[in-house]
Amino acid sequence: MSPHDNLLSFLEQTLGNNGVLTTDSDVERYLVDWAGARGGQPLAVARPETPEQVAEILGYCHRHDIPVVPQGGGSGLVEAALPDSQTPELVISLERLNQVRSIDPINFSMSVDAGCILQSVKEAAEAEDLSFPLSLGAQGSCQIGGNIATNAGGLNVLRYGMMRQLVLGIEVALPDGRLLSDMKSLHKNNTGYDLKQLFIGAEGTLGIVTGAVLKLYPQPQVTRTALIGCPDVDAVLGLYAQARRSCCDLLTAFELIPRTCLELALEADSSLPDPLDEPQPMYVLLEVAASGPVDLDGMIEALFERGLESGLLQDGVLATSDTQAGQLWQLREAMLEGQQRRGEHLRTDISLPISRLPDFHRQAAAAIAKASPESQVIAYGHVGDGNLHFNVLPPMNLDNESKRSLLHELEEQLFAIVAEFDGSISAEHGIGRVKQPPFLEGLSAPKHDIMRGLKRLFDPRGMMSPGRILPRSQY
Ligand code: LAC
Ligand code: ZN
Repeated sequence: MSPHDNLLSFLEQTLGNNGVLTTDSDVERYLVDWAGARGGQPLAVARPETPEQVAEILGYCHRHDIPVVPQGGGSGLVEAALPDSQTPELVISLERLNQVRSIDPINFSMSVDAGCILQSVKEAAEAEDLSFPLSLGAQGSCQIGGNIATNAGGLNVLRYGMMRQLVLGIEVALPDGRLLSDMKSLHKNNTGYDLKQLFIGAEGTLGIVTGAVLKLYPQPQVTRTALIGCPDVDAVLGLYAQARRSCCDLLTAFELIPRTCLELALEADSSLPDPLDEPQPMYVLLEVAASGPVDLDGMIEALFERGLESGLLQDGVLATSDTQAGQLWQLREAMLEGQQRRGEHLRTDISLPISRLPDFHRQAAAAIAKASPESQVIAYGHVGDGNLHFNVLPPMNLDNESKRSLLHELEEQLFAIVAEFDGSISAEHGIGRVKQPPFLEGLSAPKHDIMRGLKRLFDPRGMMSPGRILPRSQY
């Protein structure tokens, strides 16, 4: 039997017929991601149902030098989970490992399998009058293991932190086939190196997360959503500083949506109304939430009044019903759809010290305008976290090759400015393959050495998501 036949018969024995997919039509959906990127043909797709099975598969692949790549819900944006197009890999999908294991309402924690869809984790917490606060556009399809592997961020980071802050315990199948179980539900635990943090954000390069203990919060009883029009980015940040101070730490989201993005949203979903009487250069989508007796309306009205007096805002709307609040959030969602419809564009995920956002925005917008006056900047994002998706739509009439080379050139210019401002080229999407060249360029020698050392320690044969984050040639 060939090594490939041996692998398939091992997988069938371990997982049963249903647990391994091999035909073109069956594996097709594991080859593409949300953004439309396409991976290569995999050796097969394995669909384990238990953490032990994941570990067993890794052990086999380790012994036989078979490269593997774990896959969650397919909403990653840096192509880390797509099978390699040069060297065929075994895709390990976590989709059947999808049970909520337990919820502890007094410890404010829940224990889950890695393949649970984020939305179902949130619903399971809500059923116990608790909240798992990670929120992002892909929550209906992304898996908690993928959220952990990418250290996902999203819309509520300024209040609750990124995934890294929401994991109490972890279970990981190691590349050599052992299962590391550290499913502790402790809120405090200072016993040596915090190993779970190494796997969070490692994009599957150090092992496969199979389970986690998540931190929960009280379920907010009242939530208010407002959309505010501001004259410019300076005003947006001025308003942010006021809102952080005057909203008693209850601010859960503070999103920047420039008019250009709002127009993309209205274009993509014609049922949505233009939210304010007059178009505004910049909009802030703001949310506050509380679980006790707090006057959120009064809080937002006071913020409106002070903002109007100081010229930081020009107009605004406070949603008076869940439907209206939903519509405001739908603008944020539809904007992504509108962007996607414009075809290939420059997508970035940068972060800066929050106070430097206005200067960065000015300098970056000027650089793009100079380099490509016909391109359109659409810079939106989680300004409350200093995280901008400073994206660029290229002119429509370019052929594919010229478009790609223009986008590459604009990205280089943008990243040079990010470096000047001591920012990051990836705030929440990760490195994968897509961001590898600029990541390596900005990596100091000590950091680079430690990262290579960690990779060698966990995955000495280099079979675990090879080529993601660090190139294969470096370990
Ligand atoms: C967002 C994704 C792209 O914020 O990170 O919409
Ligand atoms: Zn984002």
